[in-house]
Amino acid sequence: NAIPATLIEGDGIGPEITAAVVELLDVLGAPFAWDRQSGGLAGIEAHGVPLPEPTLESIRRTGLALKGPLTTPVGQGFKSVNVTMRQEFGLYANLRPTKTVVSGCRFDNIDLVVVRENIEGLYAAMEHYLPDGDDPKGLAYGAGFNSRRECARIVRFAFEYALANGRKKVTLVHKANILKIFSGIFLEEGRRVAAEYAGRIAVEERIVDACAMQLVTDPWKYDVIVTTNLFGDILSDLTAGLVGGLGMAPGANIGTKAAVFEAVHGSAPDIAGQGIANPLALLMASSLMLAHVGRFDLSHRLDDAIEKVVHRDSVRTRDLGGQATTKELTQALAQALR
Ligand code: NAI
Ligand code: MG
Repeated sequence: NAIPATLIEGDGIGPEITAAVVELLDVLGAPFAWDRQSGGLAGIEAHGVPLPEPTLESIRRTGLALKGPLTTPVGQGFKSVNVTMRQEFGLYANLRPTKTVVSGCRFDNIDLVVVRENIEGLYAAMEHYLPDGDDPKGLAYGAGFNSRRECARIVRFAFEYALANGRKKVTLVHKANILKIFSGIFLEEGRRVAAEYAGRIAVEERIVDACAMQLVTDPWKYDVIVTTNLFGDILSDLTAGLVGGLGMAPGANIGTKAAVFEAVHGSAPDIAGQGIANPLALLMASSLMLAHVGRFDLSHRLDDAIEKVVHRDSVRTRDLGGQATTKELTQALAQALR
């Protein structure tokens, strides 16, 4: 009962951290049967594009992918890998859990999740210039759309996630006081969907600017946050900053046709090949992937091993103030899993 899954090593530190994660998933006894495919610079080298057809074909088949960071080549006119994937696989939900693993960051005991709508809102990029007096490009016009269907779907996703993961509360984050229609439709649909979960999951509403302030002054107030695209983009980077930054931030892109799991960080060319990259963000992404396929037991075992090794035993890479190499951290984690 192996579960086929696509593996994209990625660029820069990608091969180092994916090797660590695949090794640890092996030790854990994770059920994934990897189909290795290329992407990013490796994809361009092998097939001429950053997201080659055999890679897309593999994800179409498996519906499941673990993706290392991909370097985006600048100025070569390639379409963004992320945009291509979102469109191809309908990746409408971006899930970013934020949990304290190492103490001594800005806050302790943080455990919250941001669910960001991933395909609508202002990121539809309907924008152009308009004339302003003599200046033909004196005005910038931008527009977006939020559909009732998609607003309801993303809020339902957040409530279902809350139920499946023992969460207690979902906060609908909006700006409906000003954008009465554009953001109002999200709040209306959010309230409607939330009513279906009454008595099981609590619901709360928060205006986005107030939410940003509270995330910094009192982040423990929050459990699951669900919001539209732009707000979610900004708030989920903010929450990563609460717990130690990029090396600790996993992400999942969940869609109708596939789910793609990754670290939030990029390919870190400045430290690539030195054996010092932190594999934890991608490892935590693989834990989300295990939960996604229903293996909560393995996901918890993996989280516990990370907690033990990184938090209690203080085996940490340099980005977390430690001295451990990628290999040393991987060995300590493997030991804890055995
Ligand atoms: P980056 O996230 O790669 O690096 C920012 C800083 O964080 C660097 O100093 C790096 O050394 C450090 N860092 C990142 N991940 C780390 C880890 N696991 N362990 C230790 N240190 C780590 O962002 P940057 O430099 O802006 O982008 C580099 C490339 O990655 C670009 O081509 C960019 O387009 C791409 N990128 C790809 C993403 C993806 O595939 N999901 C996301 C973000 C950037
Ligand atoms: Mg962002």
